[in-house]
Amino acid sequence: MKFTLKKLDLEKSLGNLSKASQLKSDALVITSYQLADTKKKKLSGLVAAFDETLGGVITDLVNDENFKFKTGETTSVRLSGSERAAFALGPIKKVILVGLGEEEEFDKKAERKVAASILRKAKSEKITSLAVDSFGDIGLLVETLGLVNYEFTKYKSSDDKDDKKQLSEITILSSSVTAKEKEAVAKSEIIIDSVNKARDLVWEPACVVNPTYLAKEAKKIKGTGITVKVMEKAQCEKLGMGAYLAVAQAGGQPPKFIEMSYKPKGKIKKHIAIVGKGVTFDSGGLSLKPSKAMEMMKEDMSGSAATIGLMNAIAKLQPAGIQVTGIIAATENMPSASAYKPGDVITAMNGKTIEVNNTDAEGRLTLADAVAYVSQKNPDEIIDIATLTGACMVALGNTCAGIMTNNQDLLDLVKAVADEQGENMWQLPLYDEYKEKLKSTIADLINAGSGGQAGAQNGGLFIQEFVGNKGTTKKPIPWLHIDIAGPCWLDDASDWSPKGASGIPVRTLLNYILSV
Ligand code: BES
Ligand code: MN
Ligand code: ZN
Repeated sequence: MKFTLKKLDLEKSLGNLSKASQLKSDALVITSYQLADTKKKKLSGLVAAFDETLGGVITDLVNDENFKFKTGETTSVRLSGSERAAFALGPIKKVILVGLGEEEEFDKKAERKVAASILRKAKSEKITSLAVDSFGDIGLLVETLGLVNYEFTKYKSSDDKDDKKQLSEITILSSSVTAKEKEAVAKSEIIIDSVNKARDLVWEPACVVNPTYLAKEAKKIKGTGITVKVMEKAQCEKLGMGAYLAVAQAGGQPPKFIEMSYKPKGKIKKHIAIVGKGVTFDSGGLSLKPSKAMEMMKEDMSGSAATIGLMNAIAKLQPAGIQVTGIIAATENMPSASAYKPGDVITAMNGKTIEVNNTDAEGRLTLADAVAYVSQKNPDEIIDIATLTGACMVALGNTCAGIMTNNQDLLDLVKAVADEQGENMWQLPLYDEYKEKLKSTIADLINAGSGGQAGAQNGGLFIQEFVGNKGTTKKPIPWLHIDIAGPCWLDDASDWSPKGASGIPVRTLLNYILSV
């Protein structure tokens, strides 16, 4: 999608636009706040100006069809040849009317809803280029239009794609095009690109996205201060990553331990480590999943996809003073004659021993070594993103991530950003009582010991065992665990995403990092 900002005060210049400022799009979006519930519903501003030239068509829609300009309410009016001439807008054939809802209630959430409905209306009407008279926050408008426009059509043959009818250009009209607005649009384009990168990786099937592919994608991230390092199995063995390598030992695709690092020039205020679960296919291993549960397990690398998307945005936006390390312990989880077995005892790189009672609780094993590894770099915070438990979906549903922490301040800060971004997250506790369930009779820990109770917490508590202490203190590094098993894949479209891979929580973590 190509976005252009165009300086144009439509209301002032309607009907006498110079040739140069005429629009090149085939449809125009104009908006209005909700009309008062009185008998005489009065149109105002641009909408009133259009209504006049259109001989009262919009007034008719309001009176006869009860069109009220509620939040995200849309309708369209096709222009006749003479009407087009009267407006002098250029090739505009259609005017799409969109409601902003009550003025006092118009916030970011409402703006997203409006932008999403504009995009969907334009698509349903097969519009290929669109002009939008700007409203609200231009950055958020562009971001939402771009995020909602996403489609993964790579494997559809061209007939299906209807590719002649793709919406490919959006021009945002604004009476003042400031440097700040231009910058906001450029930033939104980076965000769209990064979230959509994460979505592509999740959509791609596991026959394409394997650990090697993830490593290649990570290496594509370029920018000042960015370095990407990939460790092979032998190096991980030397480091003692027995938990991660146990998952990888079935011998399918070779594992890749990926480390992306961003170091800004100058003084570093904070070092944030991001760890993304990168199980490129989770069959369950010998504790094999039933077919239905396995069907979507290509999505089990959504945490790593978000980490790559996030590092891509960091590379382009170059935040000052913040060091960011992104870690992915990528592997498949497969059954085979060499696969790890229930009952095996393995040792993670921090020396803790683990009894494996269920090879399907593999994510926490890969994360154990990834978190222990990154702890050695002594970051100020560790945030892990993982499609960790079906239990989290049972607790919070399909549209909400579960968040757990050893540091309430960190959780509160990230949660506030998530709320603002519309990426639902809800805190689950990590009660000491449940730590008992992590105990094994043969080893230090058992990987799936809670017997189905408090499953999301059990996963969180397990990972917590591998968070190191800050420096030489006895205090653990502040850590946040984001279980995205539910919202990594949306069954229904939202105000910021189509159905399918959502790209959560790229925007939350990016905006959190930019706010530090
Ligand atoms: N990758 C799954 C969790 C998952 C389930 C992600 C559904 C996305 C959608 C994870 O590795 C897993 O299998 N977890 C087990 C843990 C159990 C064995 C303790 C689960 O949730 O059943
Ligand atoms: Mn599993
Ligand atoms: Zn898994």
